[in-house]
Amino acid sequence: MTVYGIGLGPGDADLVTVKGKRALESVETVYSPGRLSRSVALEYVDESKIGDLDFPMTRDPEKLRSAWKEAAAEVASEAHEDDVAFVTLGDPNVYSTFGHLRRTLETFHPEVELEVVPGVSAMTAFATALGVEVEAGTGLALREAANGTAPTGPDRMILFKVTDAPATYEKLTEAGYDIRFGRRLFMEQGETVVTDDPAEIDERDYYTLAYAEREDLERDLATAEFDVDDDADTDTELEGTA
Ligand SMILES: C[S@@+](CC[C@H](N)C(=O)[O-])C[C@H]1O[C@@H](n2cnc3c(N)ncnc32)[C@H](O)[C@@H]1O
Repeated sequence: MTVYGIGLGPGDADLVTVKGKRALESVETVYSPGRLSRSVALEYVDESKIGDLDFPMTRDPEKLRSAWKEAAAEVASEAHEDDVAFVTLGDPNVYSTFGHLRRTLETFHPEVELEVVPGVSAMTAFATALGVEVEAGTGLALREAANGTAPTGPDRMILFKVTDAPATYEKLTEAGYDIRFGRRLFMEQGETVVTDDPAEIDERDYYTLAYAEREDLERDLATAEFDVDDDADTDTELEGTA
């Protein structure tokens, strides 16, 4: 039998992939590490299929290892009988608890088959929500900015875990970045906020990210040069290239 690691996307049940939905509907038990992922999964499975696992709220490596060993043993024993799923928000392989489960299963229960169904990660969904285009030929770095920290260096960064937006904003602005924040993007629970103003999101909310871009970046994009007054000429030119 198979353990599916299913990425549910950012939180809107409509953004679960067709493959993810099919896998959810096919399994006997669905384990979820949090309230939000559970509520998305419940759009596709009955509550009676939600499995019970204890997820460690600790950073102590010893306690973490022992809790994940216990969780993996439970998942593996269920998977000996039926297909099961472990769901996460976003993608299972991006900053996700699924990594702990995968490593533990591979080490202690190598007989269990694993299949990962990728999900829409906040890492890509942010671009649409914040109106950012990640242009071909540019780089984009993923960093964490928890507790008011502010990594610098890359020209463009997506920052996860922005828990003190005003402090992160101040440091990044001083370092020469433009910043935009996104909170609860494509989520059904809680209010979605997209803003350049950190005062609007000064209360801590784990589901907050930021996009930071150096102020002085130059863009070399052919189509960025279009002059809206020249629409008629452009249409005529394009007719010959269709
Ligand atoms: C532990 S990471 C999980 C990432 C997830 N696996 C993914 O692929 O999107 C959690 C961080 O992702 C960001 N995040 C995840 N979903 C988000 C959403 N819907 N809106 C805004 N930020 C989100 C936040 O910065 C949050 O602190």
